[in-house]
Amino acid sequence: MNQKKKSENKSKTYTLFDNENGLSYELPLINGTVGPDVLDISNLYKDSGLFTYDPGFTSTASCNSKITYIDGEKGILRHRGYDIKELCENSNFMEVCYLLLHGDLPSSEDYKKFTNLISKHTMINEQLRNLYGGFRRNAHPMAIMVGVVGALSAFYHDSTDINDPNQRMIASHRLIAKMPTIGAMAYKYSIGQPYIYPKNDLSYSENFLHMMFAVPSEKFIVNKTLSNALDKFFILHADHEQNASTSTVRLAGSSNANPFACIAAGIASLWGPAHGGANEAVINMLTEINSKDRISEYILKSKDKDDPFRLMGFGHRVYKNYDPRASVMKNTAHEVLNELGIKNDPLLDIALELEKIALNDEYFIEKKLYPNVDFYSGIILKAINFPTNMFTVLFAIGRTSGWISQWKEMIEDPVQKIGRPRQLYIGNEYRKYKPQEKREKISIFKKLWFK
Ligand code: SDX
Repeated sequence: MNQKKKSENKSKTYTLFDNENGLSYELPLINGTVGPDVLDISNLYKDSGLFTYDPGFTSTASCNSKITYIDGEKGILRHRGYDIKELCENSNFMEVCYLLLHGDLPSSEDYKKFTNLISKHTMINEQLRNLYGGFRRNAHPMAIMVGVVGALSAFYHDSTDINDPNQRMIASHRLIAKMPTIGAMAYKYSIGQPYIYPKNDLSYSENFLHMMFAVPSEKFIVNKTLSNALDKFFILHADHEQNASTSTVRLAGSSNANPFACIAAGIASLWGPAHGGANEAVINMLTEINSKDRISEYILKSKDKDDPFRLMGFGHRVYKNYDPRASVMKNTAHEVLNELGIKNDPLLDIALELEKIALNDEYFIEKKLYPNVDFYSGIILKAINFPTNMFTVLFAIGRTSGWISQWKEMIEDPVQKIGRPRQLYIGNEYRKYKPQEKREKISIFKKLWFK
């Protein structure tokens, strides 16, 4: 919808007619800057006694936002108006964090100030180390992330008052700064190696590689190609409009819960294989396919309605065209493999062949299923030697900048109120209480559990 057309729509309303009762309800149209306009239904229930119904929110805008714009048909992703490909080519993750939080790219002075602020918050309270000890060594690192990030609110009380702008900013900086430290410690804990402290003379991505792969007994030189690839990975995962985990953070935050608890809720939601857990699931799927000859078998499986198997890394709620992040990720995968001298990565070969077959398959074409951000990211992370179960931790590290920016925007939104969706009730109508002796003899347990 172009600008001119939008101005024509100013104060346009849609009318809902109830012909049976000769009633009608006005639904005002609200224009966005770009992209779909919205129908304001906030008074519909009060006026009509009707709810709208949209499981999965396929046609529902939950908020207004200035942070990220996605056009799923054209494969467009912009942060504060800047295109994702231009940011990947010209910017870095710290700049993008600033952009998401503050609304524009930083001046060189503000950039220095911001990166210095973040570097001052990279350590975590030493007491938190004991929390790791409570986990089994083979605990999934995402379980540790949910626990430790949620526990930050027990250590950083001085930045939990969500009504204090200064505390909101400190909490935002703390979360962006501490996520790599917490994630790297989860990895070190799992392999029984000593934790490596952050080093403030390294960049954000260099620091993370250092905390992950350095050992106290040896000098560690950060490979710049790998840290640059990681920085791009974080940019590509920084924010993505109102996805499941971001909506979780917003909903948690709408009750005025503290920011650490809200981000822990976002981490929990991201972990699902239908969402951020897909990068780990892609590698597991490619490993299971194991050879190009078996690709068609798996494509068939993914189309079988009775089979829960989905082609991981394919499809997207919004992108009905190629996910712009996937193409950047694919090029970065080739850069990393070349840098590491990995001539033929069997998983990459299977991924490329799988993509080629799927993109020419009627079913995938008809359902507009393209590779998403997760399809190639695992190839990069595996090549850099991250264990598969750390992939979603890296997604969470990158996405924390988006989550906390969306949380901040929500808290600062004057119309913000606690999120409380309604439902379509399809359960029993009123039934009088029955004493046990008068109840049916059939046992639900027998049917479901105790055969
Ligand atoms: C992320 O929202 C975001 O922005 C998320 C994200 C972000 O940055 O935050 O982009 C990150 O989560 C990327 C997505 C990662 N997940 C996966 O790769 C898992 C595999 N993909 C699917 O689970 C699925 O595509 C979803 C969950 C991503 C999207 O699901 P939708 O939008 O609810 O679509 P759907 O499940 O209703 O699918 C529509 C049709 C269905 O067939 P019909 O019922 O219409 O016959 O397409 C089919 C689905 O069966 N389908 C697939 C498929 N994905 C959808 N069939 C086979 N393989 C797939 N991957």
